[in-house]
Amino acid sequence: MSAQNQIRRMTAPQITERKGGEPIVCLTAYDAPTAAIVDEYCDLILVGDSVGMVVHGLTTTVGVTLDMMIMHGQAVMRGSQKALVVVDLPFGSYEDSVETAFRSASRVMMETGCQAVKIESGSYAAETISYLVERGIPVMSHVGLRPQSMNVLGGFRARGRTETVKDEIIANAIAAAEAGSFAVVVEGTSVEIADEVTKAVNIPTIGIGASAGCDGQILVTPDMLGMFDRVPKFVKKFGDQKAQIEKAVKAYAKEVSDRSFPGEANTYKFTKK
Ligand code: KIV
Repeated sequence: MSAQNQIRRMTAPQITERKGGEPIVCLTAYDAPTAAIVDEYCDLILVGDSVGMVVHGLTTTVGVTLDMMIMHGQAVMRGSQKALVVVDLPFGSYEDSVETAFRSASRVMMETGCQAVKIESGSYAAETISYLVERGIPVMSHVGLRPQSMNVLGGFRARGRTETVKDEIIANAIAAAEAGSFAVVVEGTSVEIADEVTKAVNIPTIGIGASAGCDGQILVTPDMLGMFDRVPKFVKKFGDQKAQIEKAVKAYAKEVSDRSFPGEANTYKFTKK
């Protein structure tokens, strides 16, 4: 590929440099057309394992596989050109050993062409993060509400609202930063705890259900587009995609039923030549 044709994307170090500066705009994407749209406005696109819930209809992210993440990662890479693309390592693909984590992360990087992976970061994660970073894999961490641990935590409720979990969340974030993460997602905490994490670490914090004081923000794109009636409290619906799809499908069904579709404009004429 000639240097001219090479796609120039945001890099992980460029995201880290934004600590305390211009807010970092992030969204999730799982397919090429959506990636092409959000790419124009986002610094970072996350191929989140939320894909299991918002695309595949699973009730949690626990059933998401590495093959699913790779397939969606490939689609997002094809659709985008400039944002940094980060792919989630799903449950079961990185927790048991640093070698397993490297095998999963390197497969994701090689088969999708993405530039970084994200792991949900409990206290066990620091060793994995430094092992991956030392071997050329940028890592974004994820603290606070960690959806892959929902069976231990007892659900998807916001976690960081009490003194009991405050120290744990801050310690996990500091350990993740010291281990070499280039950024850390802070999910489902009180504003106070998110702000303390942002002060405590020297890498950008990306908030979701956290605080406007984080260095960046992320939302699950179908949630913010208004695809679902019920969304967590922290989601603001910036669109009404569900209503728009319903309206279009209803109009289509009516026109098929009364035979007004396909009309002349949507059909081909027979020509003898
Ligand atoms: O899976 C996901 O989409 C995420 C975001 C909620 C940060 O991890």
